[in-house]
Amino acid sequence: IQSTIMLNNGTVIPQVGLGVFQTPDGETTVNAVETALATGYRHIDTAMIYGNEASVGEGIRRSGVPRGDIFLTTKLWNDDIRARRTKEAFQESLDRLGVDYVDLYLIHWPVDGWHEAWDAMQEIYASGRAKAIGVSNFQKHHIDELLAGSDVKPAVDQIESSPQFTNQQLIDDLTGLGIATEAWSPLGGTGGNLLSDPELARIGAEYGKSAAQVVIRWHIQRGIVVLPKSTHAERIRQNFDVFDFELSDADMKAINALETGRRNGADPDNFDF
Ligand code: A2P
Repeated sequence: IQSTIMLNNGTVIPQVGLGVFQTPDGETTVNAVETALATGYRHIDTAMIYGNEASVGEGIRRSGVPRGDIFLTTKLWNDDIRARRTKEAFQESLDRLGVDYVDLYLIHWPVDGWHEAWDAMQEIYASGRAKAIGVSNFQKHHIDELLAGSDVKPAVDQIESSPQFTNQQLIDDLTGLGIATEAWSPLGGTGGNLLSDPELARIGAEYGKSAAQVVIRWHIQRGIVVLPKSTHAERIRQNFDVFDFELSDADMKAINALETGRRNGADPDNFDF
């Protein structure tokens, strides 16, 4: 049985979702989404900039799983934030996805214009076309600034987190504020070496699980949402087979110790896109 988390507005979110960053548009994305939904996933995380919203929508329709059973997230891209065209961009995302609402709409990065975007997103939320709204790649200081200027708390902050860059202080801060954390690059990202770490293999052997399954389970037991990405059906299935074992405290600590302090992706305080 998959686990869920309740967001601060009462919305329930499945803890494991399929991420589709760098999943090519077309049949690759359609198949990944269809495979995930057939496996039991009920949470898909995309973004305008991933360029595959239409294929995500197609995969959902082909799966036959009712729209209402699926938690669907997309994100507002930086160019649209800077151009102050949140509502237009949101409608374009709905049209590409072929849905009349999303479960979660996120500000993708804290670029110039995000304050106005947050105001517009509150109107979208009030209209019912996004069941929850939140942010991504916001540091503590961005969150503090947002909360100082708004009565509406983001439901989530989607940030980089993996055993190599746990981001634990930010997660603790968000938890203290009642904001749920979602982890991107949860397996260390494309081209990373995390999954070949012998420590993860050793731990996996205790439970009969792979390194990826151990890492996904570690995220679940930290109480956050985890968004593993794969284009391979076998891995998509494997990454969801994580609800029948529990890592010991000692193993959780051993995984925490893989921290390097180095990000895999962009630094939210210093990026240029
Ligand atoms: P692929 O899509 O070729 O399966 P993250 O989710 O941290 O961004 O990491 C995803 C990376 O890990 C991708 O390169 C993905 O490759 C790979 N990956 C995903 N699931 C597994 C798995 N179960 N075993 C090995 N590699 C995986």
